[in-house]
Amino acid sequence: MNIKNRTLFIADNLDILRGINSDCIDLIYLDPPFNSKKKYKAPIGSPAEGAEFKDIWTDEDIKAEWHGEIAEENQELYQVIQASEVIYNKSMKIYLMAMAVRLFEIKRILKSTGSIYLHCDATASHYLKGVLDAIFGIDNFRNEIVWGYSNSGRPKRFFAKKHDIILLYTKTDKAFWGNYRIPISEEYLASHYRQVDDKGRRCRIRVDAGKRRYYYPEEGMTPNDWWKDIPSLNSVAKERTGWPTQKPLALLERIIKASSNEGDIILDPFCGCATACVAAEQLNRQWIGMDISPSAEDITKLRLEEIVDKESNLFSPFTDVIIQTQPPVRTDRIEQVPPHKQLPKAHTYKHEIYGKQEGKCVGCNYSIPFRNITIDHIVPISKGGTDQKENLQLLCNACNSTKGARSQSEFIAILKEQGVRTDATPRPEHRTQTEQRKLFQNEY
Ligand SMILES: C[S@@+](CC[C@H](N)C(=O)[O-])C[C@H]1O[C@@H](n2cnc3c(N)ncnc32)[C@H](O)[C@@H]1O
Ligand SMILES: [Zn+2]
Repeated sequence: MNIKNRTLFIADNLDILRGINSDCIDLIYLDPPFNSKKKYKAPIGSPAEGAEFKDIWTDEDIKAEWHGEIAEENQELYQVIQASEVIYNKSMKIYLMAMAVRLFEIKRILKSTGSIYLHCDATASHYLKGVLDAIFGIDNFRNEIVWGYSNSGRPKRFFAKKHDIILLYTKTDKAFWGNYRIPISEEYLASHYRQVDDKGRRCRIRVDAGKRRYYYPEEGMTPNDWWKDIPSLNSVAKERTGWPTQKPLALLERIIKASSNEGDIILDPFCGCATACVAAEQLNRQWIGMDISPSAEDITKLRLEEIVDKESNLFSPFTDVIIQTQPPVRTDRIEQVPPHKQLPKAHTYKHEIYGKQEGKCVGCNYSIPFRNITIDHIVPISKGGTDQKENLQLLCNACNSTKGARSQSEFIAILKEQGVRTDATPRPEHRTQTEQRKLFQNEY
């Protein structure tokens, strides 16, 4: 492991995740922005004052080469992401791409016994589940947890939206499970253990071959996948810091107890005011946090200061939490990893151009898998064209053989002649909704 316990990274988590050794984290909880299209800001005067983050996703939030990286690594995943643009909008696609490149790293750094809990809501949970299915495999999907809460704010029409979704996946079927139990509810006891024995203890009595058998309730029970016993933080909750979207400690305690042991390493790449780190510390786990907002440093130290046992004086948050702003350097044996699998990805022009063309062939405008699309020189080398990025485009095999050593205008003319394309505008079925709307407005 190349990161020390109690390290808080203040930086974009992608570069940090890429610098962590493989197979070394026990549990990852992440509560990323949900694609809610809002901006969040901590209230003035709250302990988290100064903290702010946006949850609006535009082209600037992704790099063109991520298209190629995702499509090369997992073509099915790229298709799932492309579909989200057609069904929903471009911002959803961008959001899912930003999540996908991080989830590749998350899977890589998890131990084979590790688990990931992705906290989201109904805005994107159905798309994120597709993304996670494509990355972790459907056999490693374990639970869709519904965290139900009740706070103020009711719509005039339709039902009040009062739940979040937490998707639980494991890296393999060897995942650790902590046999987490909660007390059996009165309701459950009353319906399942209706009788009493001679000592007045609740039980269920069955008569088997003339003999009475007594069944007693166990000490506790495995919770359901819907949790309504953990309230959200109200405005006067003691643990409230003012950090927008802060989650309750009790929620993280349950997750950490269920999927880790004492001493295990817990990682939260979008840690905000460090709820997961504080819960990990309280439960004697090691932790690593990451947040892009510099305000995370003070609030994390303040919260830890409140919970450390001052008597035992084992560690002091103000001196012992390691703050890092630079990505770590992997120390595992990456020379054994084939070059194209080394991280950060050895991307080429092909990855970037694939992104600029949104995964489509310039000629026929069909979506083409990364491995089946080839680089072509717009001005052929034989006619003085260069290897510069500006002179490169990606074509499917059919279009590439049509193009041959022809100029771009000759090539387009032949495609038009063949009816493969009529003009530079994509065919209707290949247009994004935004493009279609624009065309519609221009035409009518
Ligand atoms: C929903 S909040 C997490 C709240 C946290 N679970 C808590 O209880 O305080 C999402 C956090 O992600 C952070 N964030 C957004 N983009 C990030 C990135 N690229 N790298 C690291 N952190 C990021 C934001 O600053 C914000 O604090
Ligand atoms: Zn083509």
